[in-house]
Amino acid sequence: MTCTLLTGGFGYIGSHTAAILAENKQKFIILDNFINCKRDVVARLETITNQNIRFYEVDVRETESLIKIINENKVSSVIHFAALKSVSDSLMRPLDYYEVNVKGTISLLQAMKCTGLKRFLFSSTAAVYGEPDFCPIDEKHKLNPLNPYAQTKIIIEKILEDISKADREWSIACLRYFNPIGAHNSGLIGDDPLSVENSNLMPEMIKVVTGSKNYLNVFGDDYETSDGTGVRDYIHIMDLSKAHVTALDYINKNNGINFFNIGTGEGVSVLELIKTFEKVSGLSIPIKISNRREGDCAVCFANPKKANDILKWKSNYDLYKMCNSAWEFVKSNKI
Ligand code: UD1
Repeated sequence: MTCTLLTGGFGYIGSHTAAILAENKQKFIILDNFINCKRDVVARLETITNQNIRFYEVDVRETESLIKIINENKVSSVIHFAALKSVSDSLMRPLDYYEVNVKGTISLLQAMKCTGLKRFLFSSTAAVYGEPDFCPIDEKHKLNPLNPYAQTKIIIEKILEDISKADREWSIACLRYFNPIGAHNSGLIGDDPLSVENSNLMPEMIKVVTGSKNYLNVFGDDYETSDGTGVRDYIHIMDLSKAHVTALDYINKNNGINFFNIGTGEGVSVLELIKTFEKVSGLSIPIKISNRREGDCAVCFANPKKANDILKWKSNYDLYKMCNSAWEFVKSNKI
């Protein structure tokens, strides 16, 4: 039986992907250093999957440990989620981002090379496109990193391209995520990071709903969009996680390297998201229009056709269901 190693497997996207793998009866192990997830996610994931999760508290930069883990478990593929992921944080401490993201990935790839492992699924981001020249964005859109975080992801994509060129037996997919929101339907896991600074729109909205913030800052209402607020491609976490399972199947059958945009293809404004959340929760969310946030673009949404056609993957959740899922997570955890 094949075994997949999930680095950062207790994080937001990793844990939901693990839940789907378990549901499909696919074997996996997890490696995490618990730097940005709560420890009780282990027990929660065990409840969801009804199994003991085999995991290692190890940092991806520990190459020798990785080699041992890969050999011990006869790992046949890797999904690499482990990374630092805050744009604003990356502007303040760029070196840490290069250290953890780039050096960490090189360490993992070295361990794979030593053990003859050549199937690799990589967590990339729509941030690689920067301020888009056109929307919907396809994979041929030029890369334009606006911050160290995006830069680290591009450097890794380039390394992977070179590896693929040098050895055609490698099988690699880079998934460029748009904006994941929502939670697992058990209400046990969701977007629940340890670091609460500088967070994304949905977690910020949840802080208002749960009373830890008085109002939601809307960063700019003077963009050239229908209501003046920023437009993004919000995708449900289960749809995004399913894309990993489908891509894993694809790299198990096909060599070479591929890049896929993982989004719904629908642009949604900040105000639209807020209104939909108000509708599902029955609550009113106080907002304050503030200045544009540095580094934000007006509009960013995917053309997911390549993933639709090649991976035979498609998103299912609409905006209402996505907001409802986030709201259910709040209610079950009273966060
Ligand atoms: C951000 C990151 C991106 C990362 C993605 C997923 C930036 C510039 N980009 O995307 O690299 O891949 O998260 O983790 O940080 N907004 C508010 N008020 C808030 C928070 C956000 O109005 O309190 C607005 C933003 O201006 C934007 C939209 O909501 O228009 C979405 O923001 P956010 O959830 O932070 O995601 P992105 O900025 O698109």
